[in-house]
Parts: sequence; structure tokens; C-alpha cells
Amino acid sequence: MTGAAFDPATVTANWGFPTGVRVGPGRLAELPELCRELGFARPLLVTDPGVRDLPMLDGALASLRDAGLDTEVFADIRGNPTGANVDAGVAAFRDGGHDSVIAFGGGSALDAAKAVALMAGQERPIWDFEDVGDNYRRADAEAIAPCIAIPTTAGTGSEVGRASVITNEDSHRKMIIFHPRMLPRAVILDPETTVGLPPHITAATGMDAFSHCFEAWCAPGFHPMADGIALRGLHLIADALPRACADGGDIEARTQMLAAASMGSTAFQKGLGAVHAISHPVGALYHTHHGLTNAVVLPYVMRFNQAAIAPRMGPVAQALGLADTSFGAVFDWVLRFRERLGIPQALAELGVDTSRAGEIGRLGEIDPPAASNPVPVTAADLAEVFTNAVEGRL
Ligand SMILES: [Fe+2]
Repeated sequence: MTGAAFDPATVTANWGFPTGVRVGPGRLAELPELCRELGFARPLLVTDPGVRDLPMLDGALASLRDAGLDTEVFADIRGNPTGANVDAGVAAFRDGGHDSVIAFGGGSALDAAKAVALMAGQERPIWDFEDVGDNYRRADAEAIAPCIAIPTTAGTGSEVGRASVITNEDSHRKMIIFHPRMLPRAVILDPETTVGLPPHITAATGMDAFSHCFEAWCAPGFHPMADGIALRGLHLIADALPRACADGGDIEARTQMLAAASMGSTAFQKGLGAVHAISHPVGALYHTHHGLTNAVVLPYVMRFNQAAIAPRMGPVAQALGLADTSFGAVFDWVLRFRERLGIPQALAELGVDTSRAGEIGRLGEIDPPAASNPVPVTAADLAEVFTNAVEGRL
């Protein structure tokens, strides 16, 4: 048990870190008031076609319009969003004379919406703002539109992040686009928005949050604040994810998972690692689900990083409730947890083959998360770990 059992009906919390977060069931109803507080007059709600068709979106739109907020919807965001998706959203923003963005949906919608807000008033192409060095200083910070984020999955944590992952169609790279002001001004974590997610999406997105916490904890560098958040996130996910999968209507588990997803994203400002460095090019080339790809790849990367991370597994074991604090115990737990959630053992089961291993290694090596892997990784290392993950060689 988490030690945090509660009556979800009593949860009405306001968090100021890392941004303003309104947590609790039913708080989506506060969206019009939040828009007004932030001075939004004409927001563009950015989402994906699946969420567009949900009654909760109609309800949110009706409440915004009833409150006199002239809201339009841009729902043409696809999974693994591309630069063209963002461009289309920016065109809708400019054509509609909008002043703000409401990011509403899963990771792809949130990332694309934040990128639309970034690009609303920029002259340069989005790729100029890749998260390398101080590229973000090229952007006109004053021209970035303010954004409210409302996640409808618990995984990416993009709602509290300062970056978006956007696929460059020309280079086939998932590029991390970063600006400090991409951090949404406010977030609503309403567990009722996630109750309709089917178990396999709940599991896959939840494992994205798990991999964020795990990779952040293992990343080198001094960041005790991120470390603490990562460990607590692992603890919450270990407890709540199986329950959210077993009973989608479990509001308590859904709340814990939304919290854990935001925590994972907060923690990984410390860094990620080879799980994401492999998952990004695999997603760009094979269009696999990000969280599911991470979930499959995680133990193969743990094995590769074993010597470096074994001394750090004690607190992780403790967070997971294990008496045995060895690397082996944590590794076995991860394998069992994946199995329990129905996560495949190998990337081959996701339709991925080894024919592009060299390319994946080269793309992974220049993916920013590779730089914070606990041990230095080369393109050849990443290609080898990827190949093991495709073939199921642990
Ligand atoms: Fe991720």
C-alpha cells in the first residue's frame, strides 16, 4: 500500500511546483475560471481526433463558450506528431486570431499543443529550437502563447514539462524541442478524464511514467530534488498502475497515476537515458507507441547499465517494496511487473525488426537522453541493445 490511501472525493489540492496544478476529480469544470484568471480570451483547444469525439470534450467546450470564451478546436493531431501537424496547428492559431492554447489529450496532443504555443509568433523553423546547448535563446520568448494543459492519459507528464517531442519528417528523427516558457501556466489533473482509457493504453502510458522515474533516478548528476520525486513516483506506479489497469474506474488509482506521471516528467529534468534514446528512433521509424516501446526496452537497457546502476538499486527496491535490494531483485520485479501488465517481451512483437539497427544506433547516439545514460553509450552499443530488445535476448 502507498500509505496514501484517501477518499478521492476529498481531494482538492493546489500545487505550485513545478507549475500551478489543480488536482482532483471533477476539476475540469474549473477550466473557464482558470482561463479567465490567466487572461485568456480566445483560446485554441488543441487535441487529437479520438479525444475530440469524447463527451467530456463537448462538455468542456460548452462550459468555455457559456463563460464567454471564444474557443475553437484544432483536433488534427496524430500519434507521434510531426512538424507538419504543428504547422497546421500554428496556421489555425494565427488564422483564428487566438491568444492562448488549451492542450487537451494524451502525450502527442499535449506535445503538439505546447509546440503550437511556442511557434505561434516565431519566425524561425521549429527545428532551430532543438534541446541542444542554448538553442532556445533563438526564440522570441515574448511571442510564446500561454498554455493550460489537461492530460487525459497518465504517462508522458508533458503537462509539467518544458519540452515537446516532435518528429522531423525529413530526417526521421524525433526531436526534443525545448523552451523554458513551454511550461504550461496551469495544469488540471482530473482523474475522471482518464477513466475511459482501456487497460492496454493505461499500462503502456503508465510504463512511460515508470521509465521516466527510473531513468531520472539512474541518470548521473547532483539533483536530490529530482531523485526524491523519482523514487516516490516509482512507489506510486508500482502500487497504482495494476489497479488502474484492473479497474479503469478506480479514481484513487487514476489520481495516483496522474500524480506519478507529472512526477516522472518533473524528475527527468535531471536526465533520461538509453531507454528513451532507443525508443525515440524506434518510434520515429516504426511508429510504435512511445510508452509501450519504453516498457519493452527497459530491462534490456537495465542489463546494459547493470554495473553502473547496481549500487543505486537499494532505494529503488525499497520504493518497490522489495526486501532484497540487489540489482537482480529489481530486475526480476520489472520483468514480473511487465508481464502482469501484458507488456510484450520483445520489440519483434511490436512489428520491429533488426534491419535498421545501425540507423537506430546512430540516431540514438545523437538523441539528447543518450548523454545522461549512467554509462557512456556509442551508436554501436545502442544498436546492440536494440537488437537484443528486438530478439528478446535478456
Ligand atoms: Fe517518455
